Amino acid sequence: MTTLADLPLINSGKVREMYALSGPEGDADEPARLLMVASDRISTYDAVHPTPIPDKGRVLTGLSVFWFQKTRHIVANHLLSATDGVPASERGRALVVRALRMLPVECVVRGYITGSGWKDYQATGSVSGIELPEGLRESEQLPQPIFTPSTKAEQGHDEAIDFDRAAELVGDSELMRRVADVAVELYSFAAEHARANGVILADTKFEFGLDRAGELVVGDEVLTPDSSRYWPAEGFQVGRAQPSFDKQYVRDWAAAGGWDKKPPAPPIPQDVVEGTRARYIEAYERITGEPFAAWLKRTGAA
Ligand SMILES: Nc1ncnc2c1ncn2[C@@H]1O[C@H](COP(=O)(O)OP(=O)(O)O)[C@@H](O)[C@H]1O
Ligand SMILES: [Mg+2]
Repeated sequence: MTTLADLPLINSGKVREMYALSGPEGDADEPARLLMVASDRISTYDAVHPTPIPDKGRVLTGLSVFWFQKTRHIVANHLLSATDGVPASERGRALVVRALRMLPVECVVRGYITGSGWKDYQATGSVSGIELPEGLRESEQLPQPIFTPSTKAEQGHDEAIDFDRAAELVGDSELMRRVADVAVELYSFAAEHARANGVILADTKFEFGLDRAGELVVGDEVLTPDSSRYWPAEGFQVGRAQPSFDKQYVRDWAAAGGWDKKPPAPPIPQDVVEGTRARYIEAYERITGEPFAAWLKRTGAA
């Protein structure tokens, strides 16, 4: 049985670790399969707190799998298995995935005007070079979802770019057009599903890659609270910022003077940890319609 300690670590990000798995094809230099492990680390304002949120990684992984299975008809994804090849200690939080050549852009889709999009709109009337109607209010739904890519910054903040710049970075504008269309279709499908479950999907970010045959595949995590803005539909009100589903406890605590939002991020108090954990689990249960315990059971995590 594989243990994590046996596997070569390929990349450690803010939230996830990627390990190489040996496989039929591929080798250590270019593995065919990866183990993608979501930790319980939480980052707010781009800084990782030293306090983990128990079960957060399992929620993110469970939600990604839910959406990978639901969106197969739109685009192929990198999921191979949530059980076979997953070390016992990582059950529920890790996936065996196909290694991809990732495209060097983050594929953001927005259905509502908020966050950095709202700031850009107020300053210029457009977002990522897309002109929007006048008079939009904060958090308002857009006439149709828009594709607003950004760079994949190795360090620091991602930078918003327009479609032409994204196509330049990818080196293939036909492929970029296809990616944008697929991203918008994924968003629209998920937003409709979420809305039927009392959750608004305001915006989200996808990462795509090409497999060995050159086929377009969606990778990374998809439609999780970490890669998306989910708002509870109850209490939604245009004209102001919305409370987000998951990190709001931490943000409220920071806003109340718990932290000046400058790195290093401080430890999170126990009651805030508990509140945040409960919200992640609630997001899982609302979106998938099943108890979180069912995910743990299916993957042998509990
Ligand atoms: N199937 C895949 N093949 C290769 N790389 C992938 C795949 N899926 C996701 N990745 C990459 O793995 C990394 C995931 O780790 P993460 O913690 O999210 O990093 P970051 O802090 O850069 O967001 C990202 O750089 C992502 O592009
Ligand atoms: Mg990431």
